[in-house]
Amino acid sequence: MSWQQGQIGYALAPMVARGVMLGPDQPIILHLLDIQPAAEVLNAVKMELIDAAFPLLQGVIATTDVVEACMGVNIAIMVGGFPRKEGMERKDVMSKNVEIYKAQASALEKHAVENCKVLVVANPANTNALILKEFAPSIPEKNITCLTRLDHNRALAQISERLDVPVGDVKNVIIWGNHSSTQYPDVNHATVTTGSGEKSVRQLVADDQWLNNEFITTVQQRGAAIIKARKLSSALSAASAACDHVHDWVLGTPKGTWVSMGVYSDGSYGIQPGLIYSFPVTCEKGEWSIVKGLKIEEFSRKKMDATAKELMDEKSFAYSCLK
Ligand code: LMR
Repeated sequence: MSWQQGQIGYALAPMVARGVMLGPDQPIILHLLDIQPAAEVLNAVKMELIDAAFPLLQGVIATTDVVEACMGVNIAIMVGGFPRKEGMERKDVMSKNVEIYKAQASALEKHAVENCKVLVVANPANTNALILKEFAPSIPEKNITCLTRLDHNRALAQISERLDVPVGDVKNVIIWGNHSSTQYPDVNHATVTTGSGEKSVRQLVADDQWLNNEFITTVQQRGAAIIKARKLSSALSAASAACDHVHDWVLGTPKGTWVSMGVYSDGSYGIQPGLIYSFPVTCEKGEWSIVKGLKIEEFSRKKMDATAKELMDEKSFAYSCLK
């Protein structure tokens, strides 16, 4: 297992080492990658991981060498990217990240195990994942995904708060599209488990005005709200969502439940192939499948297309950076 260490990495490492991601019976060897200026801090993280004496943790490799980090990994969690700094355009960040993900694609392709599963967390997550896929053609495209489980969990949590029900009783929200403020959090198929069976979220909330406006913008803007309050982007919730994403991908989704994952579009729901787009998926035996046949009404259609359009624009820009 490998990722680049930072805020999310620091939150993620103990979760993985405790078995949160892969269950209580799966021994773990962590490969931690960071850039050279962070080498000493990275080594301190390794010392802390050793000191925590996690029973499942069988080894920690802390390195600044991407080849060593990728060597033999089964699961790669890509949390590293170039952060936007004051005075920088989104475009400047994208062009830097495109180069980073291109280089890491080659290292993963050459050195990770053949069936390595990849989760891209760093922004722009969908487009970074797409670049990684394009430059690692021998990694099966089904193995390259990006994180929208964070948005999915945020949507579940908003409904849980609104209805004052346990979050574990809410299921089947959907995040469509990009992990950005154009994402579309959709509750049209979401349900709450109650004493008298499963009930529709839309019926229980009984406030379409709230569901079609404030609910959507709260989820879309939650990352920005965290940055504003914390002066840093979300870390513990992102790490927890990364654990949920990989956990369900590897160990399966519960019967009757789907989750949201950014995956390579196969054209489902009219979303053009060639994008990494967030869809509702179920997972079984280590493979995800897009949930088919959900009815999409006009309001949703427009929002799903708008976020697809943003991804197409990001893709064109990413490619223009590579020329
Ligand atoms: C989040 O959703 O919390 C982050 O992706 C926000 C960000 O821009 O880092």
